[in-house]
Amino acid sequence: SLYREHRRPQYHFSTRRGWINDPNGMVFYEGEYHLFYQHNPYEREWENMSWGHAVSRDMIHWEELPVALHPDKTGTMFSGSAVIDFDNTSGFGKPGKPAMVALYTADSPDRQVQCVAYSLDKGRSWTKYAGNPVIDSKEKWNSKDTRDPRVFWYAPSKHWVMVLNERDGHSIYTSHDLKKWDYQSHVTGFWECPDLFELPVDGDPNNRKWVMYGASNTYMIGQFDGKTFTPEHGKYYFSAGSIYAAQTFNNIPASDGRRIQIGWGRIPQQGMPFNNMMLLPTELTLRNTKDGPRLFSYPVREVSQLHSSSQKWAQLSTDEANRRLADFSGDDKLYIKTTLRLSHATDAGLSLSGQRLIGYDMNFNLLNGMFYSPQNPTSMELTAEIWLDRSSVEVFVDGGAFSWSAERKADAGNTEGFRFWGNNVTVTSLEVARVRGIWP
Ligand code: FRU
Repeated sequence: SLYREHRRPQYHFSTRRGWINDPNGMVFYEGEYHLFYQHNPYEREWENMSWGHAVSRDMIHWEELPVALHPDKTGTMFSGSAVIDFDNTSGFGKPGKPAMVALYTADSPDRQVQCVAYSLDKGRSWTKYAGNPVIDSKEKWNSKDTRDPRVFWYAPSKHWVMVLNERDGHSIYTSHDLKKWDYQSHVTGFWECPDLFELPVDGDPNNRKWVMYGASNTYMIGQFDGKTFTPEHGKYYFSAGSIYAAQTFNNIPASDGRRIQIGWGRIPQQGMPFNNMMLLPTELTLRNTKDGPRLFSYPVREVSQLHSSSQKWAQLSTDEANRRLADFSGDDKLYIKTTLRLSHATDAGLSLSGQRLIGYDMNFNLLNGMFYSPQNPTSMELTAEIWLDRSSVEVFVDGGAFSWSAERKADAGNTEGFRFWGNNVTVTSLEVARVRGIWP
């Protein structure tokens, strides 16, 4: 039956049928988190791009709704974003009924243009604006790569901002009605699926920075005045592996104030009626580190409802830790939190039936192959939280300073189970919890 297939993610969103890629149109409205996404409803492969749609009240339990945007004569429906037009700047709304407005790219063999659609029934049905496209910048950039509008309200100047991938980076446009857009500026060094948002550093409301994001999870930290982004730091990455093209929610209530991101998990699903999935929603924060301010990404607190009670141990040798984990190696859904203390090990970590979940190379500061410098460079301690689902693994290191995701490989006869490895490694702490599924 539905959601029971042997590779089906049990606590992540995936579509019932067909292909998915980028999250689109992420917006919170009247108690619902809306997740639209790049979707081919007909096949497991990338084609016929449409906007799929799912809603949730907690970002954990999702309900898939009918396709929101279908291809039309302007093109197929590429990535974009959605806002709530509370002041009816667009004129699409009705009294007491602000429009949910989507800005998306229509892709045709010739060009990629930016278009508008709106909904007056909480995203269930959509009307495409008769004046589409609203931006056609192919000639200006001498490039077809003009796509992925990311729109938000810039309160200080009371205008809309659009960040748009154009050729070799991200451009800023502004608008007063979501229809007429004025080009303002451009920053090079990014590719696809921009995002731009403001965050306090260490929660200090008087020390706020802007983060410019690109699809490969790279970012710059800087200033933004409503028209121009001025980088001060970067470019850095905070997440690697299977994640791509993440987006953050618009319109999270000020009383909540979180910046919440969902990334596309490029997890191939061989032999399944669906392909790929979404990764866990994470809260993004800016924190001062020994290297300066950096972006952290850590699962939203709503994930705690997925845990059952956990078992905990302290100060184990790797052999002892392996014995504790032996009971769990057959579980399809598991949460493991562990702190490792390395001494002169060059390489240490934890694997599951031959697949490395974490592997830290102390000589080159590589964590799962990516450069990562531990928060305390001399203690040689590393904490990893590992979320295993039927076909995926996500790892959050040192409270979200670095995260990593991958396909969970099928066992293929390897019955080794969990194995900590490394010379003179102490498993300072180990915590294991079974994880609940979200499907009825
Ligand atoms: C990123 C991307 C976007 C584009 C979409 C098409 O994964 O290439 O730039 O809008 O996918 O599906």
